Amino acid sequence: MNDMRILERAVEQTDIKISARKVQVHYGEKHALKDVDVDILDKTVTAFIGPSGCGKSTFLRCLNRMNDTIDSCRVDGRIALDGEDIYDKRVDPVQLRARVGMVFQKPNPFPKSIYDNVAYGPRIHGLARNRAELDEIVEKSLRGAALWNEVKDRLSEPGTGLSGGQQQRLCIARAVATQPEVLLMDEPCSALDPIATSQVEDLIDHLREQFSVVIVTHSMQQAARVSQKTAFFHLGNLVEYADTDDIFTRPRDPRTESYISGRIG
Ligand SMILES: Nc1ncnc2c1ncn2[C@@H]1O[C@H](COP(=O)(O)OP(=O)(O)OP(=O)(O)O)[C@@H](O)[C@H]1O
Ligand SMILES: [Mg+2]
Repeated sequence: MNDMRILERAVEQTDIKISARKVQVHYGEKHALKDVDVDILDKTVTAFIGPSGCGKSTFLRCLNRMNDTIDSCRVDGRIALDGEDIYDKRVDPVQLRARVGMVFQKPNPFPKSIYDNVAYGPRIHGLARNRAELDEIVEKSLRGAALWNEVKDRLSEPGTGLSGGQQQRLCIARAVATQPEVLLMDEPCSALDPIATSQVEDLIDHLREQFSVVIVTHSMQQAARVSQKTAFFHLGNLVEYADTDDIFTRPRDPRTESYISGRIG
């Protein structure tokens, strides 16, 4: 191994943002996730792929304790953010979700103005000392979500009045406004047309300069385009986790191979 490669390996190992070990999820009697071990790297886009019902959304929701809101759901195992157990009793889930933000499949802007949608998180987390600072965060977040130019003259209009693709970028701006360390996205483009999809993909590529992004997608082309790491789930198991190029060109597990070649759907 040459020096550069050794150095790269060392960097990779210190850049673990979230580490999951032996994660099990039950919904009542249903065993939805089995012994999931994975390290999510910082400043990297990680794609979760796999057939419907395999546990992608379930696992994504474990990463910011969104499953806490589902009564029948029980999570076991250990998930650490920067080495600290996020299920520790001392961790406040609201604070955690500011650090590990989430964007859902269906755009869900609050019934508030465009401005207030983005300002919401910074306000509750006290990120701005005054109106000028808040204005700055709102503008920066909307620029970051590639939406500023389209909305800068209508910030006081309702977020729900935007097109679907604009609403999804507004939700991304809202998530980015709290300066998360990790952004979880569950099929963020499934309600979008190809143009809006490509805008969101460009944005994801840009966001990874600042933090780590985890995206669930049914589109293997999308996973290949936007991610550097891919995890393939099947029937509640994490079957294979590797560099995206390797998953798509030389998968090691026959189940991954079947899925990417279209035999398991
Ligand atoms: N709230 C819930 N209550 C009970 N069972 C659930 C709940 N949410 C998910 N499940 C079950 O857990 C398993 C994993 O579901 P999950 O939603 O994580 O799959 P997914 O991979 O995201 O699928 P899709 O691609 O269709 O979104 C499925 O069998 C599902 O029926
Ligand atoms: Mg899902």
